[in-house]
Amino acid sequence: MIPGTKIRLVQADILNIATVSDIGTFDYIEAVGVLHHLPSPVEGIRALSSVLAPEGGIGMMLYGKHGRQGVYQAQAMAKMLRSATPGMSSQGPAMVALTKSLIEELPASNHLVASKLHDGDLRMGGHAGLVDLILHPQDQAYTVGELNALVQSAGFRINSFALPSKYDPYPMLRSRDVIDTVSRMGWIDEAAFAEHLAGNITMHTVFIVKSSNPISRPNIGDATVVPYLRTFCGPRVASKAIQTGELLSGSPLDLPPSLAKEEASHIAALMDGTRTRDEIELSVERDLTRGRGKGEAQRLVTIAFETFAECSAMGYIRRPKGIKPPITDDQPFCKFDTFHNH
Ligand SMILES: C[S@@+](CC[C@H](N)C(=O)[O-])C[C@H]1O[C@@H](n2cnc3c(N)ncnc32)[C@H](O)[C@@H]1O
Repeated sequence: MIPGTKIRLVQADILNIATVSDIGTFDYIEAVGVLHHLPSPVEGIRALSSVLAPEGGIGMMLYGKHGRQGVYQAQAMAKMLRSATPGMSSQGPAMVALTKSLIEELPASNHLVASKLHDGDLRMGGHAGLVDLILHPQDQAYTVGELNALVQSAGFRINSFALPSKYDPYPMLRSRDVIDTVSRMGWIDEAAFAEHLAGNITMHTVFIVKSSNPISRPNIGDATVVPYLRTFCGPRVASKAIQTGELLSGSPLDLPPSLAKEEASHIAALMDGTRTRDEIELSVERDLTRGRGKGEAQRLVTIAFETFAECSAMGYIRRPKGIKPPITDDQPFCKFDTFHNH
């Protein structure tokens, strides 16, 4: 038990989770970057399903196939280098050194280099990061279509993507004919199309529910959705970073001319993972757009949400509140982990 809490830490194989004593059932399970390391990820989802409440949900991150092309090309080369070196261990110092040399010599045309998608992992991950990325003994990656099939075969369905704007093809398209044709697809196919189009999705984070669960997909326009910032800092620190530009790293938000820094900053401070859109609009009307009416508050909140969503700096969930717990404000710097598809 963690002192002062009701949290019990248990270390066990996910496949044996149902046999842990007094395990009970969970309303929400988070499995970030875990299931794709199992020999059979579908068995992992089924194991989690056995301890999930009927109306519960799972937040799950699995690797994205297209965005990790360069990783699998490097993994293939590393395997070839190992096979060609008698007695070489899979992750020992000699293999790590050989892999490091390989990575340093990759030509500019190589996907890992050209895509720049893994520069951070390679620069800052050290030897552990290199092993995790290039010498991992077991990882699988998925396209949106494969992910959807996996989830369905475990008796679940994807209810939403944690960062829906990454899976929105329309801002990347201009041709009316293409747009009209894509709009006749179902929403999962639209997302799969966006993934092919952007080509840079390295991981998928989805909220999945049992296929019998009637909960509907959240929409950013709904009064009851709870938006949250995807930053490495709390909302007050994020709010200050928007105003002063003081970022630890990452990239600042590109604000449109119709949204002043002060306005974006004020709205960001309200996005603490506990307030609904409706509550944020009421607060903006009371404290920011005083006297200019509800419509003006709604307009500003819409622009702010579109801006944050556009660079994937925001996600949103449905009530019950707090599925994504608010990040605390106890660090002085902010990093917006922004992500542009286009
Ligand atoms: C990349 S880490 C992700 C850790 C963490 N969720 C995060 O986001 O930082 C993958 C984790 O999966 C765990 N894992 C792999 N196979 C597992 C299994 N069969 N049962 C339980 N955990 C497993 C590993 O121990 C490791 O901690």
